[in-house]
Amino acid sequence: MSSYIIEGGKRLEGEAVVSGSKNASLPILASTILNKGTTKLYNVPEISDTKITEDILKILGCKVKKNNGKVEINSKNIVKKEIPEELMHQMRSTVVMAGAILGRFNEVRFSYPGGCDIGARPIDLHLKSFEKLGINITENAGFIICKCDKIIGANIDLDFPSVGATENIILASVYAEGITSITNAAMEPEIVDLANCLNKMGAKIEGAGTSNIKITGVKKLKDISYNIMPDRIEAGTLLCMVAATGGKVSLKNINSDIISPVLTKLEETGCKIDIRRNEINLEAPKRLKSTDIKTMPYPGFPTDMQSVFSSMLTTSKGTSVIIENIFENRYKYMSELKKMGAKITIEGKTAVIKGTKRLIAAKVNSTDLRGGAALVTAALVAKGKTEITNVEYILRGYEDLDKKLRYLGANITLKEGE
Ligand code: EPZ
Repeated sequence: MSSYIIEGGKRLEGEAVVSGSKNASLPILASTILNKGTTKLYNVPEISDTKITEDILKILGCKVKKNNGKVEINSKNIVKKEIPEELMHQMRSTVVMAGAILGRFNEVRFSYPGGCDIGARPIDLHLKSFEKLGINITENAGFIICKCDKIIGANIDLDFPSVGATENIILASVYAEGITSITNAAMEPEIVDLANCLNKMGAKIEGAGTSNIKITGVKKLKDISYNIMPDRIEAGTLLCMVAATGGKVSLKNINSDIISPVLTKLEETGCKIDIRRNEINLEAPKRLKSTDIKTMPYPGFPTDMQSVFSSMLTTSKGTSVIIENIFENRYKYMSELKKMGAKITIEGKTAVIKGTKRLIAAKVNSTDLRGGAALVTAALVAKGKTEITNVEYILRGYEDLDKKLRYLGANITLKEGE
């Protein structure tokens, strides 16, 4: 496994360009299964999660051509309707491919995606929604088989505004007979991006970005090209990493309205934020003030920003209270932060962070994607050499993170594992 070696204690300053969104790319890559032709996608980040998704598309029978950020997918000759088990377990978010395969072929076979490092990650809302659409679901030896003669539009009320379940309902309903309406739908910007891409292909999706989405079934989609939205979590991550070092950054290719809850919280810590068209400029104080965060579905504070933001707060003045409402096990990285001198106590969903003047460089281990980014944030602050192992987690969701940080003046190198 590979590691980052970070010589911390330097103030970061400069510019960074935000890459395409991982969490928009994955469902949009899946959506190309619905078009029986060629779809060209631009600004797809080169990360291992998009690579796995592209590999699955190839295994299904798609032709996938790539060159720097552009991915061209020809889905005319899909021969398989099964998501490979080992890739399903490697990346649970491949579950949205089930909705796309179902939408096109009225059948799909896949294995339970299984939990991961941040929680059990059940898919009960996905399966209940498929059943509402007239799909028969059988389970056998860990595999789920979904089948129907045709998908019939239905009214679906989600118990929880699940991002993946909302995406899966949309993908499965594009060719449905009649109208599907989702109430209590997730409102994340990545769902709007998916709907915009599908509508450009000729789908009929209204209300994406609100909690009520309506999908009117269509007969055919057409070849298009589409530009993936920027990654709001990468943007927030870079802002927090710079702020943690008391630095200054001009972030390009990001529209501030999709990240406003994070910007509001950064201002509460004493950061000066200046918004330009497609650009965010941040200047941090020498030492941040503490603040409290509570993760919520969009448009609340994003759970994916909890780890990095909390890590940034470990050296702030005062005490911060963190409440993680979305995933039940998203504090694992904090035990690694404590090895670096962070003062954190955890009680259920709540973590209390007592700001300390300094962190100590140490050897720490990534436990998940955003937890790994939290360790990078701490390592940039801690004087001395920190080694972060298992950075494969981080490479899943951040394109060229070490390169972008070096460009901002960080001393970070990637030590390839055997
Ligand atoms: C998406 O995951 C994102 N992943 C996650 O980002 C993000 O944290 C999450 O949405 C919430 O915003 C992608 O888009 C690829 P959910 P998803 O379904 O769809 C429970 C990252 O770091 N739930 O909204 O899996 C679930 O257990 C990743 O980039 C059910 O109970 O999230 C969780 O507690 C991590 N039953 C909560 O809902 C279900 O059927 C939110 O899950 C589905 C979900």
